Amino acid sequence: MSEKLIEKIKKQKAVIGVIGLGYVGLPLVREFTSSGMNVIGFDVDQSKVDALLSGQSYIEHIPSAAVKEMIESELFDATIDFDRLKEVDCILICVPTPLTKMREPDMSYVEKTAESISKRLHKGQLVVLESTTYPGTSREVMLPILEKSGLEVGKDFYLAYSPEREDPGRKDYTTKTIPKVVGGYDVASRKAAVACYESAIETVVPVSSCEAAEASKILENTYRCVNIALVNELKVLLTRMDIDVWEVIRAASTKPFGFTPFYPGPGLGGHCIPIDPFYLSWKAREYGLSTRFIELAGEVNVSMPRHVINMVMEALNDRFAKAIKGSKILVLGLAYKKDVDDVRESPSLEIIELLKEHGAKVDYNDPHVPQTHRMREYNLKMKSKKLTPKALASYDAVLISTDHTAYDYQFIVDNAQLVIDTRNATKNVKRGRKKIVKA
Ligand SMILES: NC(=O)c1ccc[n+]([C@@H]2O[C@H](COP(=O)([O-])OP(=O)(O)OC[C@H]3O[C@@H](n4cnc5c(N)ncnc54)[C@H](O)[C@@H]3O)[C@@H](O)[C@H]2O)c1
Repeated sequence: MSEKLIEKIKKQKAVIGVIGLGYVGLPLVREFTSSGMNVIGFDVDQSKVDALLSGQSYIEHIPSAAVKEMIESELFDATIDFDRLKEVDCILICVPTPLTKMREPDMSYVEKTAESISKRLHKGQLVVLESTTYPGTSREVMLPILEKSGLEVGKDFYLAYSPEREDPGRKDYTTKTIPKVVGGYDVASRKAAVACYESAIETVVPVSSCEAAEASKILENTYRCVNIALVNELKVLLTRMDIDVWEVIRAASTKPFGFTPFYPGPGLGGHCIPIDPFYLSWKAREYGLSTRFIELAGEVNVSMPRHVINMVMEALNDRFAKAIKGSKILVLGLAYKKDVDDVRESPSLEIIELLKEHGAKVDYNDPHVPQTHRMREYNLKMKSKKLTPKALASYDAVLISTDHTAYDYQFIVDNAQLVIDTRNATKNVKRGRKKIVKA
């Protein structure tokens, strides 16, 4: 069984392999190396490997000093050579799981990774999928590929699933202190995976199967998606009723039990919340069921950028008798949430495109995103503009899409002609409140 591997892990003699060195993989590497474990990081992107080996980070909240420390400890190496999987005892997979154009799970990254492992799999290895996915992926997608190696799960190798709960930019919890749910294909696999994570993470939460672990992650993200949709829907209604939704949420939050606050915004963003629930809706169809909460939440959240555009339109019309067409608009914040540099699925991108479609002249500022890069759906070719009093005054409207902490909101309101605030970022602004429209 897995006792030999567990003993090796406990003696810190096991080598950890992390596949996919992105927002999830890199912080994980850091936790294992700082716990004294040897780690080899694998990626298909040579430029990422080169950066890491020269002590450079490409993720804003992981400082280069932390990468240098990992290299200097001699516990970390990075490579694009997947043959080196042979040197590894525990393989943790953190590759992307996006949606296809048809909004179906794109399992190609997981499948390719499983193929690479399968060709090199040897006795005694543990394979753990961390990428967010629908319940059943480990058993139905990973296992058949891994068993092409001729090895038997639970006997020759071990298979588990452990969802990542990374929240980039968060200061109160780290990868080490966020409890880690772990489900194994069988008891031996679960025990091996629990031992592996216990070597670096403070609290490990074992569950009975890979499916339970896979489903727990989707539940967490669906819960957020549905509750955000609820407050977004209320925002539209309460705005029309001239009631401030943020004040209402603040008041409701004083209830000491039974209420968890969620906040409205310009639309959903990031790699998880807009995508993961649709993995579950897709799987539900196989069981002849539809996940109506998820579909409805998706519908409400997806309509938010257009709601924001309507608010801009109304404000320009009411205040300056102007149309969006020909107006100059500055969007503040390109990242999908505050204080990060990640623009994946950011509603700001759609808002910029919609404003341009309506004939506005649009610029953006984001202290974390100096320029835009080509993305799957967008190629904006824009550079972040400087925020000077003169520049701010030159726009017909300044639209706060992401509430970065770095912004001085009083300075923005003082100098702008009109401020459309989608995040209640100007709540503490004292002067010039008449210029602010909450959207
Ligand atoms: N970013 C988050 O906050 C977050 C939080 C929880 C869960 N997740 C989940 O974790 C997974 C990874 O997300 P991420 O944000 O780290 O993505 P990312 O794009 O930042 O990183 C993925 C990395 O995998 C590499 N890669 C792609 N194909 C590969 C392959 N075949 N072999 C090896 N490497 C490959 C890419 O080059 C990239 O470096 C996804 O399933 C995501 O849903 C992300």
